[in-house]
This record gives sequence, structure tokens and C-alpha cells, in this order.
Amino acid sequence: MRAAVFRGPQRPLAIETLLLDSPATGEVLVQMVASGVCHSDLHVVDGEWSRPADLVLGHEGAGVIEALGPDVVGLAVGDLVVLAWTAPCAGCPACQRNEPWLCSDPRGSGHRLSPTGARLKRPDGSPVGVYSGIGTFAERQVVAAEAAIRVDPRTQPEIAALVGCAVTTGVGAVLNTAVVQAGESVVVIGAGGVGLSSIMAAVMAGAQPVVAIDAVPAKMTLARVAGATHAATPGEARALVAGLTDGGADHVFEAIGLSETVELAIDLTRAGGTTTLVGMTPQGDRASIDVYRFVEEGRRLLGSNYGSAVPARDFPLICDLSLDGRLPLDLLVTERIGLDGLESAFDAMRRRDGARRVVIF
Ligand SMILES: NC(=O)c1ccc[n+]([C@@H]2O[C@H](COP(=O)([O-])OP(=O)(O)OC[C@H]3O[C@@H](n4cnc5c(N)ncnc54)[C@H](O)[C@@H]3O)[C@@H](O)[C@H]2O)c1
Ligand SMILES: [Zn+2]
Ligand SMILES: [Zn+2]
Repeated sequence: MRAAVFRGPQRPLAIETLLLDSPATGEVLVQMVASGVCHSDLHVVDGEWSRPADLVLGHEGAGVIEALGPDVVGLAVGDLVVLAWTAPCAGCPACQRNEPWLCSDPRGSGHRLSPTGARLKRPDGSPVGVYSGIGTFAERQVVAAEAAIRVDPRTQPEIAALVGCAVTTGVGAVLNTAVVQAGESVVVIGAGGVGLSSIMAAVMAGAQPVVAIDAVPAKMTLARVAGATHAATPGEARALVAGLTDGGADHVFEAIGLSETVELAIDLTRAGGTTTLVGMTPQGDRASIDVYRFVEEGRRLLGSNYGSAVPARDFPLICDLSLDGRLPLDLLVTERIGLDGLESAFDAMRRRDGARRVVIF
């Protein structure tokens, strides 16, 4: 089976033919149907996040179950599944608190599915890892059954793939982490795959106004199609938000991952309001806050990992909202590509061109 392998930062992914084991106990074999290209793949390729090569990249995918390993319950051959990049262990304190995104011992941790041996090998027998235990830039993959979440089979493959990361992250940040209410004002900084999903969720929640901030005019246009009432550049943001609100927005979401826009997000939030950080910076980056003002004004700062989502509950729900026309997720799909189109997809993302490129298998 063909897959795109990360061999180290600043090197192009290699399209290789690899050998895949049969699924072991508690695992399933998935025939991938689609995989989005997320900025969290690009962070790895550009060396901003350290991950162990060699590794099949991709973590935003969907597929069809082709075979079940022993002891798998609740899934059947032929099911359309969205793959989750954390497969919770169900036993650790975080899982017991129903916070699977914080699971301390997820299946596939260390980007190796099995501690006793990889499921994926080169023809010479050398093991290859899988990003977040799912490595979706591959025609097939063996994953933990807990990572394979069945959704309505009518869900478009591209949409199902994006639900695996960008959509759940963006929608979940609004609905689960920040719990935006109807009538509240929302600003979303960064209108890529994640930010556009947050905009759609804010609109669905009845937020008003919903302001998109992005450097690129085409993203502002997309944000308006997604339902944003206003759009502006970071330079215009302070004046625009000041004119629309009483001293700042109730909720501001940062969906880029830059220290300067994290600081901007806090500035655009009203006293007593909530700033939610979704974008992830290069590892080790810091941002500063005016502590005196932050405390005196009783502000809240939240981090949102995977949209505070419970994949088994939220993936089917989000697919249903999309099928019901309540989340116009199809506007996220800018281009359909093959595995050999990944390098140009990364270049487009660096140029800030388009929302999502999706590999179709
Ligand atoms: N918290 C999580 O669980 C989680 C999950 C997925 C992705 N992420 C992170 O979220 C971030 C966004 O991911 P994405 O896939 O949507 O990225 P993306 O590249 O698709 O979107 C980023 C957007 O920000 C805009 N932008 C970039 N720099 C800008 C600047 N200086 N000023 C204004 N706008 C700017 C771009 O035009 C683009 O629209 C990334 O850091 C990613 O790693 C976090
Ligand atoms: Zn992602
Ligand atoms: Zn756990």
C-alpha cells in the first residue's frame, strides 16, 4: 500500500510502498477514503514540532472498515469511520473524567501503534511509525478500534475526513470549550480549516456579531460565506471590534498559532470575557499578558485541545449537523488531490492559499 512518509524536517515526504500487518486484538484495518491536510502536519514538516521520523504523516482522515481484529465490538466491515487522533485508554484519570483529549496513555502514543512492533514496515522489514496512531496519508491503515468512530454513511468522504481534525477542533472550541451562547459576540482570528469551522459553529449557536480576522482577503470572503457578519485584517481588528462591541467581544478564538495573534486575541476580549486558544505555536513559543489588567478585569483564558471533544459522541453529531445543512462544511474543501499533491498542498498552506486540500484515495 502507498503512503506518504515523513523522513525528517524540511525534507519532502516520500511516497513509498509499505507492508501492513493484519489487525491485532482490538484493532481494525481501514481502507482510507480521504485525508485532509492540516496545519498540524505542516508544523511537523517545517520542524516547528518535533516528531520521530520515519512516520506516515496525516491525522485528519476517514475510511471504510475492511477487516476487524479479534475482540472488536461495535464496528462492522463496510462501516464509514472517522479516525480520531487520540484513541482514549478509558482507564486513566482523564478518561475517567470524560476528558479523552487529555488521555495519558492513548493507543498509538509515541506515534507507534504497538509497543511490541510496528504494524507498518518497509519491504526490508524496518518499522515505520504512524502520526498520532492513525497516519492517514496512506491507502490503508491499521488503527486502534477506539480511534475508528462510525458515522452516517451518507457523509461525503471529504467532510468525514475533515471532521477528524479541523472541524471537530473548531466547532468543539466554540460549543464544548467556550460554550458560546446565542446573542454573544464572537471574534475568530485565523480563517483556515479550524477557524472557519469555529465561525460556522458560532453562527449556528446564534452568536452576533461574528467577526473573522485574517490577513488574506480570500479568507475573509470565505469567512463571510461561512456566516461571519464582519471580516478584517489584524491591523483593522481593534477599531472594528471596538465599534461593534462594548469594550471587546464576549468570546475571542485564536486559530492561527502565533504569539502576536494570541496577544491580539486577549486584547479583543472584553473585561470578564473569554479568550480561547486553539491555534498551536511552534513548540516553546511564549506570549505575554498584562497580568494586572487581566486579573483586575476578571478575564478568562482557555486552551482548547481537540475541541474538548469526545469523538465517539461528537463525530457522529457533527456529521449529522452537516447532513442537515446546519454546518456548511463543504466550503472548506478547496481542492481534491492525490498523495503526490501533498508537497504543493503544503506550499499552498505556507502561502495561506485556500482552506483545505483533501487527499482522495
Ligand atoms: N487545538 C487543537 O487541538 C488543534 C487541532 C488542529 C489544529 N490546530 C492548530 O490550529 C492552527 C490552525 O490550523 P489550520 O489547519 O486551520 O491552519 P491554516 O493554515 O489552514 O489556517 C491558518 C489561517 O491563519 C491565517 N493567518 C496566518 N498567519 C496570519 C497572520 N499573521 N495574521 C492573520 N492571519 C494569518 C491564514 O491566512 C489562514 O487562513 C494551527 O496552529 C494548527 O496546528 C490545533
Ligand atoms: Zn489537525
Ligand atoms: Zn486515558
